[in-house]
Amino acid sequence: SLPVRVSIVEVGPRDGLQNEKVTLSPQIRAELISRLAAAGLSRIEAGSFVSPKAVPQMAHTDATLALVVRDNLRLSVLAPNLRGLAAALSAGADEIAVFAAASETFSKRNIHCSIEESLARYAEVVAEARRYGVMARGYISCVLGCPYEGEIDSGRVVSVASALLEMGCFEVSLGDTIGVGAPLQARRMVERVARVAPLDKIAVHFHDTYGQALANIFACLEVGVCVVDSSVAGLGGCPFAPGAAGNVATEDVVYMLERMDVETGVSLDRLLAAGAFACRELKRAPASRVAQAYAAR
Ligand code: HMG
Ligand code: MG
Repeated sequence: SLPVRVSIVEVGPRDGLQNEKVTLSPQIRAELISRLAAAGLSRIEAGSFVSPKAVPQMAHTDATLALVVRDNLRLSVLAPNLRGLAAALSAGADEIAVFAAASETFSKRNIHCSIEESLARYAEVVAEARRYGVMARGYISCVLGCPYEGEIDSGRVVSVASALLEMGCFEVSLGDTIGVGAPLQARRMVERVARVAPLDKIAVHFHDTYGQALANIFACLEVGVCVVDSSVAGLGGCPFAPGAAGNVATEDVVYMLERMDVETGVSLDRLLAAGAFACRELKRAPASRVAQAYAAR
């Protein structure tokens, strides 16, 4: 059976925009976030406090946050270290996210340290965030495969998930960074994680490289997951995962859930308009199939 309600975490302004060729100004990013919020998305990842040399698209996340009017909105940002956390706190982020991996090689390429080193660093970041009353989400990349190591044993996902929850993350988001998983694998992996984590602390984060994202989401909803990450217009990819496509498109997730009578609180029309705005600014077409279908009507 499916959950009655699903929370969507809109990651387009971060995961989407961090891998687009066109870098948007803080003004445009803030306008996109405001439009997404007006569509009913109440959890939005607004940017990253990471090295601007590594991810220039996310520079000036502080200016972006300053321009968003917050009303019934939880804005989250990536914070890879204490410096990123300090910037997140002074920008007034409601939530931060730390990002680990289930693959040693991916961890080294993405954040220049081993999984174990990253977890030690994140424990400090999460503890410090909580001292300021800011909740921390924990990501795990490469949960169903790694661009460098190939297959990833779910046992590695389970141990990183346990560590993130133990250090105080309120939720772990399981990332199929390169979109290689298929529904049965996704379901088995989530079932294993659910043995160490309550289902309401598990989110799923599928990139759509192999066109499996919606099917994977459906499989995970059937296990009882009720938090889904997605990106408006299917923007993005991952700069450290060659060939990765964007996240599953929010429009497609909302359409699927609406058709199955699962509540999301999101207005599809307003969401489509926000996606069209982003695509105009980025000078690209939406990857969302629902957006394409509506445009052709
Ligand atoms: P490092 O190289 O280990 O450490 O960086 P460092 O302290 O030597 O710093 C290197 C440079 O970054 C220095 O600048 C620092 O000042 C600067 P330089 O001397 O070269 O001019 N720096 C910072 N700048 C701004 N804010 C900071 C900060 N910290 C250091 N907080 C670090 C480690 C992780 C910081 C760096 O490698 C980095 O920023 N990497 C980018 C990681 C990233 O954003 N990846 C993409 C997001 S993760 C993702 O997309 C996956 C996800 O979607 C889930 C999934 O799909 O799998 C979440
Ligand atoms: Mg991602």
